Amino acid sequence: MALLEIRNITRRFADFEAVSEVSFTVESGEFFTLLGPSGCGKTTILRMIAGFDLPDAGQILLDGRDLARTPAEKRPIHTVFQSYALFPHLSVGQNVAFPLRMAGVAETELRRRVRETLEQVHLAELAEHYPHEISGGQKQRVALARGLVNRPRLLLLDEPLGALDLKLREEMQLELIKLQREVGVTFVFVTHAQPEALALSHRIAVMNRGRIEQLDEPSRIYSFPSNRFVADFIGNCNLLEAAVIERRDGLLRLAAAGLGEIRAPASDAEKAGDKGVLALRPEQVRIGAANSASDDANRFPGTVRDFLYVGDVTTYQVALDNGCQLAALRPNDAPGRARFFEVGDRVTLSWAADAGHYVRD
Ligand SMILES: Nc1ncnc2c1ncn2[C@@H]1O[C@H](COP(=O)(O)OP(=O)(O)OP(=O)(O)O)[C@@H](O)[C@H]1O
Ligand SMILES: [Mg+2]
Repeated sequence: MALLEIRNITRRFADFEAVSEVSFTVESGEFFTLLGPSGCGKTTILRMIAGFDLPDAGQILLDGRDLARTPAEKRPIHTVFQSYALFPHLSVGQNVAFPLRMAGVAETELRRRVRETLEQVHLAELAEHYPHEISGGQKQRVALARGLVNRPRLLLLDEPLGALDLKLREEMQLELIKLQREVGVTFVFVTHAQPEALALSHRIAVMNRGRIEQLDEPSRIYSFPSNRFVADFIGNCNLLEAAVIERRDGLLRLAAAGLGEIRAPASDAEKAGDKGVLALRPEQVRIGAANSASDDANRFPGTVRDFLYVGDVTTYQVALDNGCQLAALRPNDAPGRARFFEVGDRVTLSWAADAGHYVRD
């Protein structure tokens, strides 16, 4: 049985539906992520799971039992908020001990569990420090330790890394993965940062306007988006408007706007006349000097319009002669070369017949 089961929950604020008929299950030990743009309903769902808010319709079950009549403080669930919400007048150790004190845990047991949990998050040396004496990343770990010390069945994390700078954020991501594996607590994690969701999660629910657009493993979300919204929201993606001319031997012949005829892999039951978009990642598009050789089925000449150099790779924006503009990514792997092409250079873009993923409207 799933640890958590969300059945068709809906939440309205006046006549606005913030969450619409959302269903999903979370398995014990899973790292499950709700991902979506600001305002799509992520926090509202977490608050209902935690018991700070109630759905207008639908059910929330933990271990198969409906939580509707269980108040927040009686649920074996803890929430870590983006703001950390540490008590400024309590030391790190006292902050972590707080939930145990509330639960009336005996002093020796309490000390043991606080020490053990602080070690798990590598904070044992800072037990006597106060929140104003520690860094943002350390505060984050105190908040995590306070969430874990009571050994909840379920830990809800609402954008817990949102306030950290990029480097610290990436470090904490790795620590979170390790910690979750070590302590075996089930995580429901909320973020609007897609790289973070891809890096951390076993499964991701991509949300938009109160609904789940796709629920899948990270690699499927990235490579096989089920619709335009997901393709566009997850990572950088070329979206080519295209209609199906013919489907044969697992391949599609497509008529693409501003491009002409292209080949793409068939996915489900596409048929001639279908309309949609080909989601083509910049790393699937090769960029070479004009007229350079390649075996790719799709080849188009164009001119470099712009580029974004980020150190390890450069993404080129190329205006193709047929009218459409595409992004192509190339690693800066030649020694001493910051990039391969300049604005105005004539180039050839190409990609394989099995690259990309066609999404029907
Ligand atoms: N108590 C409330 N009263 C009225 N509207 C609300 C209330 N709480 C949330 N909303 C609205 O419901 C929608 C979803 O809010 P929610 O906080 O769940 O979004 P979110 O996905 O967590 O966004 P963010 O990434 O910005 O935190 C928003 O449009 C928000 O304005
Ligand atoms: Mg939120």
